[in-house]
Amino acid sequence: MRLVSARNAGLGAAGFLFAGTVVLSATAWLLSQEQSAALNAGLKTPAGLPAVRLPDGKAPSAAEIELGKQLYFDTRLSRDRTVSCASCHDPQKGWSNGERFATGIGGKVGDRSAPTIINAAYFPLQFWDGRAQELEGQALGPIQNPIEMDLTLDELVMRLQAIPGYKKQFDAIYKDGVSADNVARAIASFERTVLSGNAPYDRYKAGDAKALSEAARRGADVFFNKAHCTACHSGPNFSDGGFHNVGIGLHGKDFKAKNFDVGREKISGLEGDRGSFKTPTLREIARTAPYMHDGSLKTLEEVVDYYDRGGNKNPWLDEELFVLKLTARQKADLVTFLKEGLSSPDYPVVRPPSLPPDPK
Ligand code: HEC
Ligand code: HEC
Repeated sequence: MRLVSARNAGLGAAGFLFAGTVVLSATAWLLSQEQSAALNAGLKTPAGLPAVRLPDGKAPSAAEIELGKQLYFDTRLSRDRTVSCASCHDPQKGWSNGERFATGIGGKVGDRSAPTIINAAYFPLQFWDGRAQELEGQALGPIQNPIEMDLTLDELVMRLQAIPGYKKQFDAIYKDGVSADNVARAIASFERTVLSGNAPYDRYKAGDAKALSEAARRGADVFFNKAHCTACHSGPNFSDGGFHNVGIGLHGKDFKAKNFDVGREKISGLEGDRGSFKTPTLREIARTAPYMHDGSLKTLEEVVDYYDRGGNKNPWLDEELFVLKLTARQKADLVTFLKEGLSSPDYPVVRPPSLPPDPK
């Protein structure tokens, strides 16, 4: 009898906990959806895009966005004061750097390409391998990375505290003034304004048949149907936010020698993630060459040829990739769709702001 009731109690507790978790997370989800919709009223969302993610449920103020913009463009956030976020994510270069890899302080070169930060605000997981959560979780990474900006968080806070123009802004915006977390908050707030929507494709989708040229319309049909691109480049940001092995870097000598970037596997520890990288957005894709995590494809024509071949064969290749057998015209139309359809007339142009001067 006692045994039975003990069991029941155990089950009951487990059932209660389980139900409690479900109810709680469902409520949190509902709240955050409503909240972000309401709070996002203050953040301009371009046509065709949903409200951006606001992980702490709070829309940034204009002052916080402005502070973040200054920090984003400020080379004093790097050890030798030569590199800022904008060095590798340059508004003039599609918010990327136009190069295969990224060059940080002292000319040190990394081994992955710099993704655009346009619409990065829609990704819950940041970086090619998703190792950081939300923009806030990402921003302090490059500042501390020895081959990018190479500052410790203590040095970062000391430097900013010594610049009166910064200290004043932090004190006005945050209860706890200058701190590394607040640097991340401010930069993330600025990044949430770097959005691209209202592209010809959005207007076409909204009913304006003339928004796309005939070739781009045919290309859209290839993209959504025969070429199967939306298996991964889906939704308003043309990304499922997930990780896939499309075979990039998995060929030739280095692959045979098992000397390749395992991508997501390093974070998840799962062999199924070997060689998987995050699906990038395709918005403003005409501006962000070269392509892929290793910058190995120079043009969109090369990208389309690559997918047409079904990608580099490897044991972990995503099952959604296969030989497409596109005709020459379908390939050309697909490229036209990517270039014309997803480039916005409202491309986010941001000029470097004037920065608070060094103390005298
Ligand atoms: C030296 C070049 C360099 C600098 C400086 C740099 N980044 Fe990056 N950034 C990169 C590279 C390379 C990656 C991809 C690295 C990876 O995925 O492992 C990246 C990734 C990102 C991502 C992820 C985007 C996505 O879609 O996953 C964001 C956001 C970002 N950087 C913002 C910033 C911010 C903010 C700063 C300044 C605090 C900064 N970066 C400084 C090169 C740089
Ligand atoms: C199985 C999922 C999947 C499918 C299907 C897919 N992609 Fe991708 N795409 C990805 C992933 C993942 C990456 C990043 C791969 C890497 O860097 O290793 C990527 C990268 C790209 C890039 C480079 C973006 C950048 O910023 O570097 C372009 C362009 C692209 N895909 C276009 C397409 C087109 C066009 C199609 C259809 C022909 C397509 N993709 C089909 C998942 C997919």
